[in-house]
Amino acid sequence: MTSQHLPSNSAKIKLVKKLAILGSTGSIGNSTLSICESFPDRYQVISLAAGNNIDAAFAQCLRWRPKVISLATESLAESLISRLKAEGITNIEVVHGTAGSIRVATLPEVNFVVSAIVGVAGLEATYAAVCAGKTIGLANKECLVAAGELIIAAAKQHKVALLPIDSEHNAVHQCMRGGAPAEVKQIWLTASGGPFRNTPIAEFEHITPQQALKHPTWVMGQRITIDSATMMNKGFEVIEACRLFNLPAKQVRTTIHPQSTVHSLVEFVDGSILAQISVTDMRLPILYALAYPERVAVTEKESLTFDLTTLSQLDFSPPDLTRFPCLRLAYEAVEAGGKACIALNAADEIAVAAFLEGRIPFLGIPRTIETVLQLTSGQSPASILDVLDADLVARACAREVIARQFTVARR
Ligand SMILES: NC(=O)c1ccc[n+]([C@@H]2O[C@H](COP(=O)([O-])OP(=O)(O)OC[C@H]3O[C@@H](n4cnc5c(N)ncnc54)[C@H](OP(=O)(O)O)[C@@H]3O)[C@@H](O)[C@H]2O)c1
Repeated sequence: MTSQHLPSNSAKIKLVKKLAILGSTGSIGNSTLSICESFPDRYQVISLAAGNNIDAAFAQCLRWRPKVISLATESLAESLISRLKAEGITNIEVVHGTAGSIRVATLPEVNFVVSAIVGVAGLEATYAAVCAGKTIGLANKECLVAAGELIIAAAKQHKVALLPIDSEHNAVHQCMRGGAPAEVKQIWLTASGGPFRNTPIAEFEHITPQQALKHPTWVMGQRITIDSATMMNKGFEVIEACRLFNLPAKQVRTTIHPQSTVHSLVEFVDGSILAQISVTDMRLPILYALAYPERVAVTEKESLTFDLTTLSQLDFSPPDLTRFPCLRLAYEAVEAGGKACIALNAADEIAVAAFLEGRIPFLGIPRTIETVLQLTSGQSPASILDVLDADLVARACAREVIARQFTVARR
């Protein structure tokens, strides 16, 4: 992708983008709706998919009057229909489950889908949206980790743009506009290092969920916050970057940058390095993806401008893989191929939930994943159903590993 592929200013026409938001009640979903609130002449909400938060889904129906909304289960959908009826609203179609999110993502009038359901729960709807030719703003990283090869192939086949919302990949996407893909030597994904960057390794065993949920720079959903504390999040981003930018793992580097000011960098073959700097606010990468290939002017009201005069220090250092084994495991999984990345993601989701419930210690997360990876074999998946099967197998394996670890720990 180079600048010569972008329309000239004179060719720009302001078209209203018609949005489906998958994961509308989450952190990214709410930030996307806040952008729609700021730019109502550019972005129109057509359909929403939420999980279990019926109060938030109800409030979103009142505010946005979507054509269709999906909830995780049939009983939640029925409750929402009753609540809407009591308000005199009968023209919103309420659907549920995977079929419901697929309907939300593939409505004919939708032309842009924000994929922000957490975990593989968002996979089928995202894949369906790609196959239906929708432009995708991709926040959900688990989709590319578990089914990256299939999604990228489908995007090529249907000539669909996958625009990254994850801030690091969004930064890389922006920097890539400075050169041709063949001119890229390597990319550098920055990482804050999370809350335990300087914690003595001896104390890692006693880290509590409350401590791990305090991210130094970003406010995010629970799973991604714990993934940031273990640096598995950076590992997922390495895999995501390999898929999105068609690079081998050795050309995707990571660097600890505690200020989280530079969101990532692209190093070109001539020695130039381009970096992207902006406020740490997810509304900015969301707006970039929604507006691409244009850039939308923001005002003081959105508070998205970065005050360069306040910038005094930028530190970069290599990550310590003994402190953060999850990052090493992610590099190993992407190199191994086959079903390893599916197992990595599934085992992590189960281990993070067990940690949050106090069933395993912080270091139980990488231990569980490493054991599951050792027990995983098999060819790359040929379909999304294969991915979901392998995901279920890896989850069951992770639960067994945890049950054993837990029993041993209690003895
Ligand atoms: N937050 C960030 O800054 C950030 C940055 C980069 C990438 N991401 C990625 O973006 C995705 C979303 O992150 P987040 O922080 O927004 O997560 P979050 O706040 O936990 O929100 C997750 C969303 O997914 C919905 N959901 C969960 N299970 C569902 C199901 N079975 N069916 C339908 N919807 C379901 C939730 O609905 P309910 O709340 O109604 O249950 C909620 O709307 C993740 O993949 C994350 O890795 C997030």
